[in-house]
This record gives sequence, C-alpha cells and structure tokens, in this order.
Amino acid sequence: MRTLLTALAVSVLSPTLAHPPVTEKLGPSQAVAHQRGPEIFNAVHNAMRQWGSSLHHNGMSFFLATVPEGVLFHHGNSREESPTDPDWLAYEIEHAEGFARGGRRGPGRGPPPRKYKPWENLQLGLTNKESRQHIIDNGSSPGPRDGEPGWLHVYRTTRPLRFLYVDGMGGGKTSLGTLDSQDYLLRGQRTSTEEEPGAKRVVGGGPMGERQRAVDLCKLCENWQLQGVIRMEAGFEIIKCNFSDGLEQIQVLQRPDSGNNGPPRRGALGNLELLRGLSERYHDIGSTRTIVDYSSMVSVFFFPVNLTNPDPKRPDLPRLSSTSDAELAAIKTYLTAVIEERRGAPLSGLDWQDITDIIVSRYADRLKFMAEKVDSVETMRDEIRFLLDVFIDYSGKEKDPGIPAAVERCTNFYLRSVTPATKADRLIYTALESVTSQICSTLFRLRELLVTNPNPDESSVAASVDALRSLMDSLKWTRFKRCPPCAIDEVCLIPMWPFGTVEEYNTPRCTNGSDTRSGENYWGDFRGGPDGPHDSRGP
Ligand SMILES: *[C@@H]1O[C@H](CO)[C@@H](O)[C@H](O)[C@H]1NC(C)=O
Ligand SMILES: *[C@@H]1O[C@H](CO)[C@@H](O)[C@H](O)[C@H]1NC(C)=O
Ligand SMILES: *[C@@H]1O[C@H](CO)[C@@H](O)[C@H](O)[C@H]1NC(C)=O
Ligand SMILES: *[C@@H]1O[C@H](CO)[C@@H](O)[C@H](O)[C@H]1NC(C)=O
Repeated sequence: MRTLLTALAVSVLSPTLAHPPVTEKLGPSQAVAHQRGPEIFNAVHNAMRQWGSSLHHNGMSFFLATVPEGVLFHHGNSREESPTDPDWLAYEIEHAEGFARGGRRGPGRGPPPRKYKPWENLQLGLTNKESRQHIIDNGSSPGPRDGEPGWLHVYRTTRPLRFLYVDGMGGGKTSLGTLDSQDYLLRGQRTSTEEEPGAKRVVGGGPMGERQRAVDLCKLCENWQLQGVIRMEAGFEIIKCNFSDGLEQIQVLQRPDSGNNGPPRRGALGNLELLRGLSERYHDIGSTRTIVDYSSMVSVFFFPVNLTNPDPKRPDLPRLSSTSDAELAAIKTYLTAVIEERRGAPLSGLDWQDITDIIVSRYADRLKFMAEKVDSVETMRDEIRFLLDVFIDYSGKEKDPGIPAAVERCTNFYLRSVTPATKADRLIYTALESVTSQICSTLFRLRELLVTNPNPDESSVAASVDALRSLMDSLKWTRFKRCPPCAIDEVCLIPMWPFGTVEEYNTPRCTNGSDTRSGENYWGDFRGGPDGPHDSRGP
C-alpha cells in the first residue's frame, strides 16, 4: 500500500514521469518469449547441468536457487583458517583440490590467486604461450612458496541458503560472452577499465578480475538478501559472500607435500578421475543439492533487445554487447523486483525442467534417428505413426480433417500438467509451447508426406529429412551432441573452461584423459574477457 501511495504521489508531483522513456517501459514480452522459445526451453533444460551449460555457454538467464541444509561444499586455499572475504565454494572435491596449495599471500591477506593446476596435463591446445603461463602455471614459473602444501576445507550448510544462479558457463573467464550477464548486466560494466570515478579497485584482483567481480556481485547480493552467486566452469561453484553465515566447517586438512604420495593429480589417472568427477554432473548436480526456483526466472531472452553476436562466425551465441546500457539497467531493475517479490515465498513446486526433460526424452533420439539414419519410406512412416498416433482420434466421430485438433493435442500434451502462477511461469509456458508447436507441426507435415500421401517415395523421405534437420537446428538440444556410451576407463569430453578444443566442441568424444588431441583451445585467449589482460597475473 505504501508503495502504491508513493507512486501516486510521485506521478502527481512530477507529471513527466507519466511518459517514461522507452527503456523504462522495457518489460518481458510474451511475443519475444514465443520467438525465442528454443533458447528459453534450453535455458530451463540446462539449468544446473554441466553438459548443456557447457555447450550453450553464454548464459542469458538468472534464477533464484536454494541450497538445503546439510549440503557439503569444498574449498581449497593456502591456509588453515576459513576465508573472511567473499570466496569460492566448490560442489566437487576434485574442483577444490586444485586450489588447495600455497601461494605467496600470507594468512589474513586474502586468498592466493586461483590457479588451474589440476588440468595441467589435459590437452589445452593453447596457442598463446603467455596466457598459458598466466593461467595454467604448471609449477615452473617462479613464485615464492608456490607449490607449498595447502589446505582443503569442507563445509556443511546449517540452514537453507538462497543464491542467485547465473546460468551458462558463468565461471568461464573468456571473451566469448560467458561473462556478459555478470559484467554487462549485473555489474553494469562495459569493460572493467571503465571504472566509476572514485571506485576503489580491490587489491589482488586474481585471474581476470575475479576478486573484483566477486566483491561487486556480493554487494548486489547483500542488497538482495542473498548469500552469493552460483556459477559454473569445469565444475559448479558458489561465490559465497560470507563464510561465517550459514556454513559450519566440518573438516580442514593440510594436503601432502608434492614429494609425498598424494592423490594422483598428475598424469593419466588424475586427468581421468577429474573428468569423471565433472561428467557425473553433466545431467544432474546430484542429490537435490540445489533447488532451482524456475518461477523466478528472469531471462534476457524474455526482453525485446538485440542479442546479436558481433562475431559473424558465431551467430549461435547470444551476446549482450549490442544491448544498450539503458536496456541492461531496465532488465536489472526487473530482476531486482522479481527477487524482492519471491523473497520469503515458499519454494515453487513447479519444476519446469521436468517438463522439458519429458519432452526431450520423448522426441530427441527419435528425431535424430529419423534425420540421420532412416532412408526407407516404410521406416520413416512407421516412426511418424508411432510418435503421432496418441494424438489422433480414430473413432470416426471427429470430422476429417481432425488434424488441426490433433496438432493442438500434440502441442499442449505435456503442458497440461502445469498451472502457471508467476509471470515467469507464463513466459516459460509460452516458450515451451512454441517449441512443442514447432515439433508437432513438423511431424504432422511429415505425416502428410508419408502416411496420408497415397504414393510416398524417395523424394518424400528426402523432404522429411530436410524438415527434420531444420527442426533440429532450431531446437539446438544439447542431447543431439551426446557421445556414444564410453568405456569404463573413459569419459565423454566436451570443452569446459579452461580446457577443451574447438573440435571437441563440435564433436564430443570419449577419452581416457591421456589420449590428448591437439587443436585450437576452444575458449581462445585466456587473457580475454571483458576484464582484459591488465589483472590476469594475480597478486
Ligand atoms: C612447464 O611448462 C614449461 C613451458 O611450457 C615447460 O618447459 C616445462 O617443462 C613444464 N614443467 C613441468 C614441471 O611440467
Ligand atoms: C557474516 O555473518 C556473520 C554471521 O551471521 C555476521 O556476524 C558477520 O557480521 C557477517 N560479516 C559480514 C562482513 O557481513
Ligand atoms: C543488432 O546488433 C548487431 C550487431 O551489433 C547489428 O549489426 C544489428 O544492426 C543490430 N540490429 C538491430 C535491429 O539494431
Ligand atoms: C588412452 O587411450 C589411448 C588411445 O586410445 C591409448 O593409446 C592409451 O594407451 C590409453 N592410455 C591409458 C592410460 O589407458
């Protein structure tokens, strides 16, 4: 009530506000959600999943997410004490182990720069020798006390904690656009060199401005009454703003000297086991460790803004570089409103990801099979019949053509289990409906070509394959890129920052961690990213 009165008072006092500039009116749009149906579908489908978020790595969406009580997290650093500043929690042991080593910074002076040692033996395919030294630091570069044994901390959450989940590969420090939603939208920085006048840079920025980024994001989280930010690189992590709040340390142990028999960090087995750990999270973060509130989704895909990638070679990757500052600010304002509105709201029971899963599992492999393997009229016809019969009334009561009704049944089939409640729900509903409508209308067109057509022939099959391929291109489901089953000593490998090659992005493959494939690193110059090279060296 008070806000309403205030709003009325403001509009009376300043009539100019009655006609706000365009960007102040910028809001989410059902028409845009329909148009960007596949992107929104995939954002929901890939949330908190290492596989899909690695392939669709430019995240454009935010969700509130809750970590229940009693979840274990890991943190590696150079000292026995818990961090006192914002710092990182890893979901996986092997991710934190990589940071459990000494650095040149002493206790109380903040953490050492984050280094990516655990992946040193993986094929990084780096082309830039300098960036390799900056980030990979294989132990040969000078650094006082570098390599000294560090500490591995284990924490448990003492109550449910609420975070902002930034989707895609938000922990990937690249210039491909993985940081756009954090740096351009949340932090409002075109580049980190354009600092606000008077803004104080955090000493010891760490690789690629990570420390500054954490401090900035935590400032927002404090206003939003959130505990930090969930992101993903090669492994999911949390920027936890205050380690003393909601966490209990349950173990802290010093790591072995590099001379001692530690766990196999180097060599083939260490790589295999690291990859195995990551691949366990390809499809599920596991054990309900994080509950995403889909009804709080705020996606740039909901807004009528320009997401074109200025890099003409990657039209598939959305960017925020063509979006204006005013538009970004308006989306952030909308996000703030949603966060405030959902504060204290009970966890939504509406799991939109379940709906996307059941749609993908019904259609993905069958579409791919038809598009890539089927070349006979009979098989194609049987497959179409198999998929569509459930929607067709054969009683003869329905007037022929009852097909429009059947297409509609097909389109709405899986959506009938949900009742949208929030604005986000209605936008997601529209997006999913736009996807099922594409699938269903394509399949019914194929039915005309192959089932109702009295003389289907080779050309009907060819036309069907074309239609299926363009449907798959539009859906962009990451399931289409799945590896064949790998042997027990192998793991399906896709690029996860900071490793992986361009070829592995295009064709994920089974690997034992030592059959390295040379090639161009997928993520490009390691010094890239909106932060540029100036602080990539760390303290
Ligand atoms: C570290 O990398 C440098 C340069 O790439 C190489 O010459 C050196 O042998 C490596 N050292 C170790 C311990 O792997
Ligand atoms: C961190 O959380 C603890 C426990 O709630 C609180 O006492 C402390 O003031 C917090 N620290 C900061 C810097 O907000
Ligand atoms: C969107 O951005 C791209 C890349 O910056 C630009 O070429 C294009 O003209 C923009 N489109 C519109 C409609 O402004
Ligand atoms: C890994 O795979 C490669 C290629 O298949 C093979 O040559 C190599 O011996 C394997 N290494 C291990 C440790 O199994």
